[in-house]
Amino acid sequence: MSIKHPGELEQLKTIGAIVGRSLEKLATYVKPGVRTAELDSLCARMLEDEGAQPSPPRVYNFPGAICISVNDEAIHGIPGDYVIQPGDLVKLDLTAEKNGFVADAAINVNVFPSRPEAVTLAACAENAFRKALAEVRPGCRIYEIGRAVESEVNRQGFSVMRALCGHGVGRAIHEEPQVPNYPDPRTRGTLTEGLVFTIEPIISAGSGEAEFGSDGWTIRTVDRSLTAHYEHTVVVTHNEPILLTAC
Ligand code: MF3
Ligand code: CO
Ligand code: CO
Repeated sequence: MSIKHPGELEQLKTIGAIVGRSLEKLATYVKPGVRTAELDSLCARMLEDEGAQPSPPRVYNFPGAICISVNDEAIHGIPGDYVIQPGDLVKLDLTAEKNGFVADAAINVNVFPSRPEAVTLAACAENAFRKALAEVRPGCRIYEIGRAVESEVNRQGFSVMRALCGHGVGRAIHEEPQVPNYPDPRTRGTLTEGLVFTIEPIISAGSGEAEFGSDGWTIRTVDRSLTAHYEHTVVVTHNEPILLTAC
């Protein structure tokens, strides 16, 4: 969506803060021995306490309140019987809504004792996010976002999972425009004032090629290499962009 009224920004700030806080709080429960289904229940309760709802179950029939993807799983992991192990790289990706306004964010959690490569990979996803964020202003070509992300990721010797993109958000989970994490020559369009969208580098330590897991939801690396994912919902302004989902 594109924000036209201050009231819309207030509503987005409210759900953005709920998503950001819920992720940070949930991260403190990501410990060896915990099942991902338990994290999902905790997350559902946190949202309920805030008067918010998870969007993926309503919109896509996703079987969980939050996507939890571990190690070689990149996105759309289904919470279930998996038990968190020492050294896991866990991605928590939460999309939630309140009063019809939607925010989307994802963080990486490295479970103690963390693997050095996993820590570097997660930091790289964040760095790539920051590089792309620095480009955000009205008139910036969407193409430049992808260029900023991929050049940072490649500089650190990792790969963008090119099949997976950022997107407009705000009233629905996935809105126009698509925001690739690489300089796709087919990408047209520019950022405009008030646009609400996600920047979300999804990267791998291997080739970056993606495939569906057997559950039909989870997307993982073909070569089973580790992945990281960092995402915020961003608003374009004439000054600094607003990070709606930052705490
Ligand atoms: N949070 C995801 C994204 O960043 C969307 C999840 S929708 C689901 O685009 F249904 F696939 F879970
Ligand atoms: Co997301
Ligand atoms: Co997203």
